[in-house]
Amino acid sequence: MTLYLAPLQGLTDRVFRGVYSSHFGGLDGAIAPFILAVRGSKAKPRHFKDLLPGPAEEARDGPAAPPGRRVALVPQILGNEPVAFAETARTLAGLGYSEINWNLGCPHPMVAGKQRGSGLLPFPGRVGEVLEAACAIPGLGITVKLRLGRSDPDDIVRLMPVLNDHPLHRVIIHPRLGTQMYRGAPDLDGFARAAGLCRHTLVYNGDITDRAAFEALRARFPGIDEWMIGRGAVSNPLLFEEIRAEAAAGDRRARLRDWHDDIYRSYREVLYGPAHVLDKMKGIWRYFRASYPGEKRRIESLARVRTLQDYESLAAGILRG
Ligand SMILES: Cc1cc2nc3c(=O)[nH]c(=O)nc-3n(C[C@H](O)[C@H](O)[C@H](O)COP(=O)(O)O)c2cc1C
Repeated sequence: MTLYLAPLQGLTDRVFRGVYSSHFGGLDGAIAPFILAVRGSKAKPRHFKDLLPGPAEEARDGPAAPPGRRVALVPQILGNEPVAFAETARTLAGLGYSEINWNLGCPHPMVAGKQRGSGLLPFPGRVGEVLEAACAIPGLGITVKLRLGRSDPDDIVRLMPVLNDHPLHRVIIHPRLGTQMYRGAPDLDGFARAAGLCRHTLVYNGDITDRAAFEALRARFPGIDEWMIGRGAVSNPLLFEEIRAEAAAGDRRARLRDWHDDIYRSYREVLYGPAHVLDKMKGIWRYFRASYPGEKRRIESLARVRTLQDYESLAAGILRG
């Protein structure tokens, strides 16, 4: 079984990934949040900042990962133009990456309206052109992360022959439509139908929030051996270990607190100014709050704090109980 951390733009950046993999096990790989495809001449080093090696970087080499488990990082590109995609992918290959993921799932109207992300799902011809360029890059494996469709669950039926025609390393499906955003339940029948059509290694992604949800999906899809988790991993950072039934005995509360304190300290080191640090931490708490169901009132106050001092004292109260 292989478990991946899903990309969450604004959340699972290099600081997050580094601190995460130094505290928690159970994880085999991660996809980084997307960067835009840009023509080589326009690509400033800053564009690749989240993916450059550096002190906070982790996942690529995994020095801090638990022994025996290597956490591989795969960068993700958002775009719809073959030349820009290939040039961006080549730059990433030059940084040492051997696999690149293509985002065909982003649901946001601003993105989809430009035929990017899930907005490209109704256009198999264009998908084929980008894959043609991407798969021609020597030494680079291409994977695709997609939804079932933009607004039509048959999009994936028309698209699958194009995906099957290219030597993709894997296909990751989040079984919702783009127009659903995150509403409604994942369409498991739609996933089953896509699985029946797909000749590549398939990864399931969507709404795995606890071990029971995972076990139910595993029972439903015995042929799937690779799973990707996003929001559930921030809600409960121990989820990968729990799924593998290898959560270390230690004190759960203490482990979550130590992780929080480490990530807070790391953001204070790398971000400029308290407002950015508070934004980051509030973003994490939007999901992490699920680990503290009895702390509704204090967590709501946390969303309103404006100083690091107030943040620290409220967070300490929640984390230390
Ligand atoms: C805040 C947020 C940011 C996301 N950013 C990305 C992204 O950069 N690339 C991508 O492919 N998916 C992105 N996603 C989608 C997730 O990777 C994942 O497919 C989705 O959340 C369903 O999985 P989950 O239920 O395990 O979270 C994002 C989702 C959220 C909620």
